[in-house]
This record gives sequence, structure tokens and C-alpha cells, in this order.
Amino acid sequence: MSVEITENGEVHIYGRERLGERPRIGILTSGGDCPGLNAVIRATTKTAFWLGYDVVGFRDGFEGLVDPIRYQVLSPRNTAGILVQGGTILGSTNKGRFAARVGESGRAELDPRLIGRVAETVQRMKLEGLIVVGGDGSLSTALQFHEAGIPVVGVPKTIDNDLKATAFTFGFNSAVLCCADALDRLHTTAASHQRVMVLEVMGRHTGWIALHGGIAGGADVILIPEIEWTYDNIIAKIAERRAQEKYFTLVVVAEGAHLPSGGLVVEEQAGVQNKQVRLGGIGQVIAERLEGMIEQDVRFVVLGHLQRGGGPTTFDRVLASEYGAHAVRLITERKFGQMVCSDPPDIRDVSIAEAVDQIRTVDPSGSAVQTARAMGICFGDTPGYENPFKQPPSH
Ligand code: F6P
Repeated sequence: MSVEITENGEVHIYGRERLGERPRIGILTSGGDCPGLNAVIRATTKTAFWLGYDVVGFRDGFEGLVDPIRYQVLSPRNTAGILVQGGTILGSTNKGRFAARVGESGRAELDPRLIGRVAETVQRMKLEGLIVVGGDGSLSTALQFHEAGIPVVGVPKTIDNDLKATAFTFGFNSAVLCCADALDRLHTTAASHQRVMVLEVMGRHTGWIALHGGIAGGADVILIPEIEWTYDNIIAKIAERRAQEKYFTLVVVAEGAHLPSGGLVVEEQAGVQNKQVRLGGIGQVIAERLEGMIEQDVRFVVLGHLQRGGGPTTFDRVLASEYGAHAVRLITERKFGQMVCSDPPDIRDVSIAEAVDQIRTVDPSGSAVQTARAMGICFGDTPGYENPFKQPPSH
């Protein structure tokens, strides 16, 4: 099912699908994977096929574009059944020659010769447009392609839900379900042993997964990068619960939450070329510190890449399908340099230039945080319950 053209022009063809004489659209998935990538590939393929295009899926992110070109011809036949599958049938990578994001907002300029070779591939393969499915970093690469005149359109992807230009990225809802499911399981064992359980979730520098997963899974404490917290306030919440004869507490912490001292907990520092800081470890730091401060067992769990694995939820299947179909529409309308985005109930598009570099953080006075506070969920910033809706009952 795949074709490989080596640097010296050698062509390898595997499988039944062949490129025909129809106009062609390319697609690739880049960066960290997330549930729903295959749903985008399927929707793109079906939409393009019925509009009269052949679809070329490049292997392993941008890497499949050059030296050697590696791709497979996609069709409704060979993408059947992938809607529900996790990962990406095309493979992905978030490092290598095309990584264009350094740190939180820095951009690494790609080698112009490399971009030139991508342009050659697009020309040689007669692509009318190339769909790049990726997060902030991959879209920065796509932007440099666009600036060089390569006809690209973007599809936003990340479990973190942290792109300013879209209300939702697909993969987020699936990650939230994973977090809520973990809390459901931790709930029963925490209650049995009267323990404090700390669950560390992903999200990079935003608290969307922790906030939504925490509400959906019945957390008692949610710690996110957008709200400063203290150990004393968490302990006050644990004591409040004990006074209510609730002898266990569920804490969710976002990997990018800041410690009370202001620092981040990282597994790997940035600094190496084209590498972002790798967050992780705050759950353990908090658990160990709490255990030294209270007379109660404390355990921690790092949910890690379980949040990125597995199939997409129905919400993500629909969103990913909408994105895939609308990305094809952008190509037919020749709206290059644009990215599809969700503006419920519509799917719209924004320029990739506008979309990258703009992180959407949790609004501490937004509806989800208010709801959580009203229900008594503690964000570690106050020593006790404070009703954000202010009006006490009249009697
Ligand atoms: O951006 C998605 C994400 O899963 C983040 O939530 C997390 O910090 C990071 O990627 C992990 O990256 P890697 O797969 O490289 O460890």
C-alpha cells in the first residue's frame, strides 16, 4: 500500500492503490499524536475522493516529504475502519529536520534548502495542496512553507486544547475522558484506604485537561498553571473534608502548574536545539510534600501518555471529521496559509500566522472555574469555600 521514491529517483510501490491522473491532495500528521488523527485522514480522503482528487499520505510527518519521499496512496478503501483507531496510520514525529518551535514561543528558521526540496516534492507530485495536521510547532513549520509559496492548509491538533484560534482541538475531549476515568478508579481505592490521591495530567502550560477532567471526575482539588496555590490551602481543604467525614481527597494537578515558589517541575530542560522543555514530576513533588505535612497516606499517579493513546471519543470523531472535510474545502477554494478552526456551532478558518504563537489559557474567572468553585472544588488559592456567585439564599 505504500510507494517510496528514493533520492536517486527509484520508486517502490507496495499494495493495490496507485496514483491516477486525477488532481492530487497531500496530507501528513506531525508532532505528538492524539486521538482523532485517523478520523481526520479518513474524512480528508473520503471528501477529496468524492470531489475527484487522489490523496497522498506522507509518512512520519514532514520527514516523508524529502530524502527519500515516502508516501502511501489513500483511498476510501484503505482508510475504511480507521475512524475509531488511536494514533495515526501515517506515523508522526515531533523532532528532526523540520522542528520549527523552540521553547514556548521561539521560532527556529528552517534551512531554506530543505524548504526548497519540499517545494520540489510538491511540484513533482503535482499536489494542488498539502494538509498539515499538527499542533503549534508543526503549524509553525507549515507557516514557513506557506511563506515560501508552498500551498499548505492547517488542521489544529493537540490534547492540550491550548490554541487561541480555535475553541476546541480534537484529542482534548478524549484526554479529558481518560483523566475522568482515572479519577473514577482512584476514587474507590482512595475511599477504601482513606488516602489523598494526587493525579498528574498533561496540558503543557495550560490547565484545560486538569480543569475539565477534574470536574468530570469529581476532583476535590484542581491545581493549574493559571492559578497560584499554596500547600496550606490544600491542607485546609483536606481538613474541611475530614470535618465532613470524608476521609479521602482527590487532587488533580496539571503538569505545567507552578510550585508555590514559582518554579516548574521538568523532566528535561530546553536548550538542546529545536527542543521544548519536557514537563513532568509535579505530582510526586506535591505528594511527598503533603505526606510530610499531614497524618494521612498520600499517593500519586502520573497519567502520562495514556491520555494520548486509544481511540477518539464521539465528540472528537465528529470534530476531526469536520476538520478533515473543511481542510479539503480550503484547498478547493485555494485558501492557502489558512487553518480550520472551531467556532461553535461553525467550522471556520483563520490564517496560520494568526494561529501560531497564541496560547489560550484557562480564564480564572471563566464559567468552568466558577462552576468548580461553586461546587466546592478547591484551586489552592483560598483557605476555604468561597461562593463565586455571591448571593446567599434569602432565608
Ligand atoms: O502537547 C501534547 C503533549 O502531550 C503535552 O501535554 C505534553 O507535555 C507533551 O506533549 C509530551 O510530549 P512527548 O510525547 O514528547 O513526551
